Amino acid sequence: MRIAESKIEEIRNSIDIVDVISQHVQLRKRGKNFIGLCPFHSEKTPSFTVSEDKQIFHCFGCHTGGNVFKFLTEFHKISFVEAVQELAEQQGITIEFDKAEYTEQQSEQEVLYDINTEAARYFLNNLLNDDEGEFARKYLHGRNIKTQTLRSFGLGYALKGWENFINFAKSRNLNIDKCVQLGLIGKNSEGKLYDKLPGRLIFPIFSPNGRVIAFAGRVLDAKDTGAKYINSPESLIYIKGRILYGLSFAKDDIRRLDKAIIVEGYMDLISLYQSGIKNVVAVSGTALTDDQVQLLSRYTKNVVLLFDADVAGIKASMRSIEILLKRDMEVKIVSLPKGEDPDSYVNKYGKEEFEELIKRAENFLEYESKHYESQGKFEDPSTAAEAIRELVKPVALINDELKRNLLIRSIAQKFNLREKLIESELDKQIKQVKRFEKTDVKVFQNRKAEETTATLIDAVPEISPVLYNLEREIIKLLFEADRPVAELIFNYLHPEDFSNTLNRELFERVKDEFENEDNFTTSGLVGVLNDERKETYVRELTFDKYSVSSSWEDRFPSITAEITMMRFAKDTVVKFVMERIEKRIQSNRREIELSDNEKKHLELMKANNELEQEKKRIREELGE
Ligand code: UTP
Ligand code: MN
Repeated sequence: MRIAESKIEEIRNSIDIVDVISQHVQLRKRGKNFIGLCPFHSEKTPSFTVSEDKQIFHCFGCHTGGNVFKFLTEFHKISFVEAVQELAEQQGITIEFDKAEYTEQQSEQEVLYDINTEAARYFLNNLLNDDEGEFARKYLHGRNIKTQTLRSFGLGYALKGWENFINFAKSRNLNIDKCVQLGLIGKNSEGKLYDKLPGRLIFPIFSPNGRVIAFAGRVLDAKDTGAKYINSPESLIYIKGRILYGLSFAKDDIRRLDKAIIVEGYMDLISLYQSGIKNVVAVSGTALTDDQVQLLSRYTKNVVLLFDADVAGIKASMRSIEILLKRDMEVKIVSLPKGEDPDSYVNKYGKEEFEELIKRAENFLEYESKHYESQGKFEDPSTAAEAIRELVKPVALINDELKRNLLIRSIAQKFNLREKLIESELDKQIKQVKRFEKTDVKVFQNRKAEETTATLIDAVPEISPVLYNLEREIIKLLFEADRPVAELIFNYLHPEDFSNTLNRELFERVKDEFENEDNFTTSGLVGVLNDERKETYVRELTFDKYSVSSSWEDRFPSITAEITMMRFAKDTVVKFVMERIEKRIQSNRREIELSDNEKKHLELMKANNELEQEKKRIREELGE
């Protein structure tokens, strides 16, 4: 069921995003934009921004954003098609459905969300109504899950056999390749298609805003030799380490109680929720990631870890503690009796007992020292010293000095040691943390950062901050530019000048638009980049507090916008080109110093001469 592209265009042109959002969010004007309190996360000062020019919204707190359809899909938790229908009705526009093609505006992600939504409804229907679903229904009731609960979590059942889902997908005109991408359908080496989750209990995985982004399928049949859980692969809409299972259900309670309980499994979360403990999220078998902690920190700073009492659970707790402390979260840990998990515990002992358990949560020092104690580490002075060092390690990760001092005191008291001793140990550890961070950056700048630091590199831009900022300024300009400014930029700069991949790709995208569209404009482009990461990045650039548009107005208050923009563009292009040429000159100079080959020397000097000429030429052309 697809809506003709021209209709979507018509609807979008007939409404103003500011009017639509104003029906749900109180907006007030600030500069060129409107701001208000974000409806997608809790905040006291507004970071939710709407641009009338560009017809998009963006929140700087939770990074949600997009065009008017995106707003409605997120706000009402409806599909793209439903959002279009809603607006069409309001505008009195009648829409026909076009079965053949996807519309361009229905971005790639929206197509994927729609497929998952339809699949989830199909699985739920199997579970509730199909004869074969009887076994799964019995299984869930045997585990004390009520029908109301399984409906709330949208649980489902995938029929046995290899083609049931495929046939359903075909009957609904779902894009089969996309079903393969989403891991609902598999494809063997001969290209034959098969159902991915047959005979399994299905857990839809939701985004924080409640949209279905992936599935997990649990075995029910003892003869099934596959993994206990099969999870969807990562896709455009699902990045595993950035999702916490159950957050869309839990977020209100987490905020209200200012506390989140973290468990391991899907069933743990569902059972707790059913028993009335709703401020719970699940990591779903993986180690807690920094992204997950950041996500959670939007709702609370207080976390209780409730992992299984097995070796894997203890390990996971220790690692999670470090990640949480680094983000200044308050961490407590609950130990379950051997052999229990949160699901079995709450089913056996009930909600009140469970709450008692949570009240007895220990801080991480108590928890970790108990653990070392149980290993007999404090019986021997040498292992005791080692254990105390281990205890100090996580303290070194805490940024808050006061908190660190209090913890030191409590370690000292606990083990009857002088505080000074612990302090000096802590100093050592802090230095080590710092040294590690520093070498990391240095290694990085030398671009020699290989295997060892590979994971840490992701977060750091690959180039000098100056160049990185100039690259961003150029991209920012491109997304605000009219034809003459774009022409200037494309005259002097080329994709390969950009070191940052994202910047380069965006540059290419706008260039493409510039070369192929007669009425070149980038304002519509922001909403249709078909890549969530890119769209978020561009929105953030566009709405940047120090965005070009406001800075030129500040700098040149008396001149008209077009002229100032052109000046600003020239200025930025010159800086960017100069910076790049200067880098090359310096690198040549270094090579000259290192090499004792006469010929090479001459070549490099000649090259530098030419580069100096180029600098001069560009300065003259762009009139500095
Ligand atoms: P558990 O084995 O503890 O399962 O794995 P569970 O959630 O308690 O399920 P029940 O109670 O046996 O039905 C904990 C979590 O680890 C992930 C799942 O997210 C699971 O909920 N996991 C486990 C996988 O992703 N794959 C697996 O093969 C096993
Ligand atoms: Mn379990």
